[in-house]
Amino acid sequence: MFQSQNNNLGFTGPNKSSGLPPVNIISLHDASVKFDSVHALKNIELTIAKGEIVFVTGASGAGKTTLLRMLSGDIAPTSGMAKHPFSRREEFFVARVFQDLRLIPELTCEANLNIAYDPSLYDSRKAFEKDKAELCRVLSVSDRMKLKIKDANGGLQQKIAIIRTLLTKPDVLIADEPTSALDSDNGKRLFEVLNYFNMKRGMTIVWATHDKELVKSFSGRILHLDGGRLVYSGHACFI
Ligand SMILES: Nc1ncnc2c1ncn2[C@@H]1O[C@H](COP(=O)(O)OP(=O)(O)OP(=O)(O)O)[C@@H](O)[C@H]1O
Ligand SMILES: [Mg+2]
Repeated sequence: MFQSQNNNLGFTGPNKSSGLPPVNIISLHDASVKFDSVHALKNIELTIAKGEIVFVTGASGAGKTTLLRMLSGDIAPTSGMAKHPFSRREEFFVARVFQDLRLIPELTCEANLNIAYDPSLYDSRKAFEKDKAELCRVLSVSDRMKLKIKDANGGLQQKIAIIRTLLTKPDVLIADEPTSALDSDNGKRLFEVLNYFNMKRGMTIVWATHDKELVKSFSGRILHLDGGRLVYSGHACFI
């Protein structure tokens, strides 16, 4: 079985870990978000360092999606300040996987993955194909590449959305409940793959989830939201 700590993956691309002290790449200062009368986030103080793995937890309506949207620059705080990287290659490339997966239903799984190909990111098309094949193998979707997205189940669609995103080699991955349609084993497998990208390429991960077991099985910081407030920021062993 694929293990992120001792993997046998052959992904191409540079190892971005530099050995330099941590760099803060996203920070929120006293940031609040109001949607008309709904106070979705209240006075959030938060800094995320490059290379961190951060889980965002909280009950439905606690503000997880709103926080992720603000961290990715999708929405601005209605008061306070958000400083985050732009989605441009020359800064940090932030990739988002939201609950709405934005796949093309009429195209096959493979065609949806091929959309991610950017010649400036790969030495050759062959290198892209190699990474694609490797990700499909470890996430057990290789045999379903010819299936159209509209005929694929929710779990397969989620995996394709994540693989497509990883093929764009993001510096920061912001994912909103990417395992909601996966069973526990598949959820863990997916996270092992992300963990690998974190270690190998220094990819920062911000991941909203309801899955407490998943959170406990990986090291990373937990941000727990309650009623729009950040009530906990720390490691899983302390909750
Ligand atoms: N675009 C919007 N317009 C109005 N209210 C919104 C909007 N987006 C979120 N809200 C409200 O803000 C609050 C926080 O919502 P959010 O979607 O961030 O919660 P969540 O923790 O992601 O919930 P879930 O676990 O159900 O996905 C909720 O009361 C929600 O109804
Ligand atoms: Mg949400």
